[in-house]
Amino acid sequence: MRLGLLTGGGDCPGLNAVIRAVVRDAVGRRGDEVVGFADGWLGVLDDDARTLDTAAVRGIIHRGGTILGSSGTNPFNHDRGPERIEETLARHRLDGLIAIGGEGTLTAATRLADLGVHVIGVPKTIDNDLSANDYTIGFHTAVGVATEAVDRLHSTAESHNRVMVVEVMGRHAGWIAISAGIAGGADATLIPERPFDLDEVCALLRTRHMRSASFSIVVVAEGALPVDHSMPLPAYEVDENGFPRLGGISAVLGPQIQERTGYDTRVTILGHTQRGGSPVPFDRILATRLGVAAVALATAGGWGRMAALSGGEIVDVPLADAVAERKVVPDSLIRTAEVFTG
Ligand code: F6P
Repeated sequence: MRLGLLTGGGDCPGLNAVIRAVVRDAVGRRGDEVVGFADGWLGVLDDDARTLDTAAVRGIIHRGGTILGSSGTNPFNHDRGPERIEETLARHRLDGLIAIGGEGTLTAATRLADLGVHVIGVPKTIDNDLSANDYTIGFHTAVGVATEAVDRLHSTAESHNRVMVVEVMGRHAGWIAISAGIAGGADATLIPERPFDLDEVCALLRTRHMRSASFSIVVVAEGALPVDHSMPLPAYEVDENGFPRLGGISAVLGPQIQERTGYDTRVTILGHTQRGGSPVPFDRILATRLGVAAVALATAGGWGRMAALSGGEIVDVPLADAVAERKVVPDSLIRTAEVFTG
């Protein structure tokens, strides 16, 4: 069998662990061949490819990023995109392609599969917002980075009697925010699933400070929204997949909190630190299991499907199920976080 492999969309820790698992299993164990494409769908469009042997994936399980490079290229926005993808696959005599990606990459994969392209998906995104799976690769590492930041901000907040606003990633879903908020003991967590009322947030901080505390930690997801546009939002550009390039809501939120409460407030934006660096063991193991499962799927001809963690087991689901609807934070988890609010 000859397989293509790509990593698309925003990178995350654990991508190299999937690449390693696919190559070690397919090439090293089964005697198949694997061709890696550079920079996501762009490398397939432009036929920027190289053969991946076991030597190429040596010593990368712990490395962040992706040795293949990544981009948010959407083949459907390019002239003859789907045709060029098929031509590249035919030129390399590939039986099919494994696409490791998030919403944008796997939506394109789903559309290509509908056109008859042999493609299998592996879910990755620090946002954890793909459906039909428990956790995406990269999420646990990002939560670790965000939780450590909240821990570190606690001591300096306490020393200076400050409100610390920490902004984490999460475009449409607040998984990182709510997880780091719970793990780090945040006093308020603002997520896209529940538009926030700034007056209520300030009232909550005032009550907390009058009752006992002299400092507070507010975790805000970059995609959090104020109710009824009650607070101005930064102007966001839009990327190739039509997603807003977020980041910076805390730069508005922090000064507003300070102005309304009178509490000295500081802002920290974690940004891409959440996407960089070494994957935690959970992500390395998940990536390895999903990589091996993707090779098994390809071997069985399971095109148009995605390897996924579900109920702790590795299963496969239709690609379309992963992207049809976004997986958002459920009410039950929000209620748990609310127990510790204020
Ligand atoms: O989807 C993953 C993600 O990290 C989002 O949380 C974030 O909004 C986006 O990617 C940023 O992407 P980039 O800066 O690479 O365009």
